[in-house]
Amino acid sequence: MSTKVAVVTGGNKGIGFAIVRALCKQFKGDVYLTARDVGRGQEAVGSLASEGLKAFFHQLDINDLNSVINAAAFFKEKYGGVDVLINNAGIAFKVADTTPFAVQAEVTLKTNFFATRDMLTHFLPIIKAGGRVVNVSSIVSSRALNQCSPALQQRFRSEDITEEELVGLMQQFVEDTKKDEHKQAGWPEMAYGVSKTGLTTLSMILARRLSKERPNDGILLNACCPGWVRTDMAGSKAPKSPDEGAVTPVYLALLPPGATAPHGKFVSEKEVQPW
Ligand SMILES: NC(=O)c1ccc[n+]([C@@H]2O[C@H](COP(=O)([O-])OP(=O)(O)OC[C@H]3O[C@@H](n4cnc5c(N)ncnc54)[C@H](OP(=O)(O)O)[C@@H]3O)[C@@H](O)[C@H]2O)c1
Repeated sequence: MSTKVAVVTGGNKGIGFAIVRALCKQFKGDVYLTARDVGRGQEAVGSLASEGLKAFFHQLDINDLNSVINAAAFFKEKYGGVDVLINNAGIAFKVADTTPFAVQAEVTLKTNFFATRDMLTHFLPIIKAGGRVVNVSSIVSSRALNQCSPALQQRFRSEDITEEELVGLMQQFVEDTKKDEHKQAGWPEMAYGVSKTGLTTLSMILARRLSKERPNDGILLNACCPGWVRTDMAGSKAPKSPDEGAVTPVYLALLPPGATAPHGKFVSEKEVQPW
C-alpha cells in the first residue's frame, strides 16, 4: 500500500503547528508542515524534530496560485494524491487596527475565503478515496451569519446555493464595503466573520458536491472552530493552548475509515453545530 500523506497549511505557528504536532503523533503516514515562508517553515520542522517528531516541509503560500498549483502537483506526483488536507492558514486584523474597513474586508477575504477556495479547487481533485478535508473556520462565521439580513441568511443556509453564487456574494460584500453600502446591503460590520461565513458555507457546498460526484469514495469534508486559542492571532488571554485548539481539527482529520459522518457540517468541540 502506498504511503499516506497529510498536509497542513499555515503550519509554522499557532494552531497549525499544533495540528502538525498532533498528526505526527497520531497519523499513520507522512505529515507535511507547509508554510508560505521557507525559513519559518523549516525552523518549525526543526522545532518538532527537537521533540522527537518527524514532519516534512513544503512551501505553500495559499495567496500565490502558482504555489498552490505546484504543491498540488508535488503531492500528486510523490504520493498519488492527498489523504488528509487541513486548510488552517488564515488572517485577522487586530480589533485596534485602524486600516479602513474596506481594505480589511478585501485583504481578509482574499486569504480566508478566496485563497482557501483556490486550495480546495486544486486539492479536492487529488484527495484520495477515504480522504478527510478540514477547513478551519470559526464560531465567528456563525455569529456573522446571524447578523446578516434574513435574505442573506437564507442563501447561506440554503441547500441549493452554488459555489458561483457564494463567490458572487463574497465579491459583493467586498464591493459594498468600498462604497460603504455594506450595512444597507444586509452585511454585518465583520470582515473576518464574513470571510469565515463564506468558508463554512463553501465547505457545505463542496461536501454536497463530493457526495454527488464521488459517492463511493467515502471522503469526509467539514468546517470547524478550534475554540478561542492563545496564538499571535487571538492573543494571550484566550483560554485554550494551541494543542487544545488542535483537538477538533485533528478529530475531523482522523475520522476512522468507513465513517460516514460528520460530512458537510460545522463542528466545534467535536460536536456538529447548528448553522
Ligand atoms: N486563535 C483562535 O482563537 C482562533 C479561533 C477561531 C479560528 N481560528 C482560525 O485558526 C486558524 C489558525 O489561526 P491561529 O490562531 O493559529 O493564527 P496565527 O497564529 O496567526 O497563525 C496563522 C498561520 O497562518 C499562516 N498564513 C497566513 N496567511 C497565509 C498564506 N497566505 N499562506 C500560507 N499560510 C498563511 C501564518 O503564516 P505566517 O507565520 O507566515 O504569517 C501562520 O502560520 C486560522 O484560520 C484562524 O482564523 C483561530
